[in-house]
Amino acid sequence: MSSYKVGVIGGDGIGPEVTAQALKVVGAAGVTLDTTDYDLGADRYIRTGEVLPDSVLEELRGYDAILMGAIGAPVGSTVVPPGTLERGMLLRLRFALDLYINLRPFTGVPGAPRPDCDFVVIRENTEGTYAGEGGFLRKGTPFEVATQGSVNTRHGVERCARFAFALAATRERRHLTLVHKTNVLTFAGDLWQRTVDEVAPDYPGVTRDYNHVDATCIYLVEDPTRYDVIVTDNLFGDIITDLAGAVAGGIGYAASANLNPDRTGPSMFEPVHGAANDIAGTGKANPAAAIRSAALMLDFLGEEKAAAAVTAAVTDFIHSTPEPTLSTAEIGDAIAERL
Ligand code: IPM
Ligand code: MN
Repeated sequence: MSSYKVGVIGGDGIGPEVTAQALKVVGAAGVTLDTTDYDLGADRYIRTGEVLPDSVLEELRGYDAILMGAIGAPVGSTVVPPGTLERGMLLRLRFALDLYINLRPFTGVPGAPRPDCDFVVIRENTEGTYAGEGGFLRKGTPFEVATQGSVNTRHGVERCARFAFALAATRERRHLTLVHKTNVLTFAGDLWQRTVDEVAPDYPGVTRDYNHVDATCIYLVEDPTRYDVIVTDNLFGDIITDLAGAVAGGIGYAASANLNPDRTGPSMFEPVHGAANDIAGTGKANPAAAIRSAALMLDFLGEEKAAAAVTAAVTDFIHSTPEPTLSTAEIGDAIAERL
């Protein structure tokens, strides 16, 4: 078995704690990682004013994968202006490494509002409103104007749609739902709908439909079992995956993979949840999402057996311990012991 070079960005708050458990579990699954820790996040910014130095970004390109805990200053922090770390590090990595797919699987856990759900959201990860298009006019005056555009390219939408179709084709139900707001966003929505329609014939085994994003919120709460693979734009994907996380059992279980499917650089794996600075150091953080994210990393690295074993160990732990009162490290141990 080969060893993989992994850049580890524990980050802020509970990030380093949950990442440590993820690494422990990967070790227990028998996969050797050659890890390098990167001190990035709110502390580094406060200490040095640096968010993601160019030299670090270039170094990160050389890894097989990046494992991230969480990034974010405490809510209301006046030292770190809102968006500094999010745009300067997380989004910069997503864009610079062309991590154009954000894959977020949701499998319900016991006791969840919907333990029976099992679907994957494919969120476009480099375009839309996240692209940073827009600006101010007459800032600070009573006549101030702020615009924030949504950038949608045929290339970006098509590669995302194709990834989602190809994934759906490997699943039992082989069903793809495009989620958008085509009734109002008539330019972006039209491009998305046309692109999905045009590539569909290349995936003849996959059935598909369309839901508006607002209706999707109702369906996710009332009947998430209707979904198999959802494909959607960056912002809609951000919003519905928090909702999906809550429906499937809580954001503590929600994993994500920022993928560069063309493998022109490393992909990055991180839980959907944030830094939760308020509970940092208390041992209350659930490492399950980070561990599941590490399983997505193993799978993408080609260690499918180890990935499946980790996922099964997490599932077994969750089923045997529906309401864990264990600490972060104890949960990590309990999952590692199952391997
Ligand atoms: C996520 C997060 C990020 C996003 C933030 C931290 C920039 O909410 O990964 O879902 O909006 O994409
Ligand atoms: Mn989010």
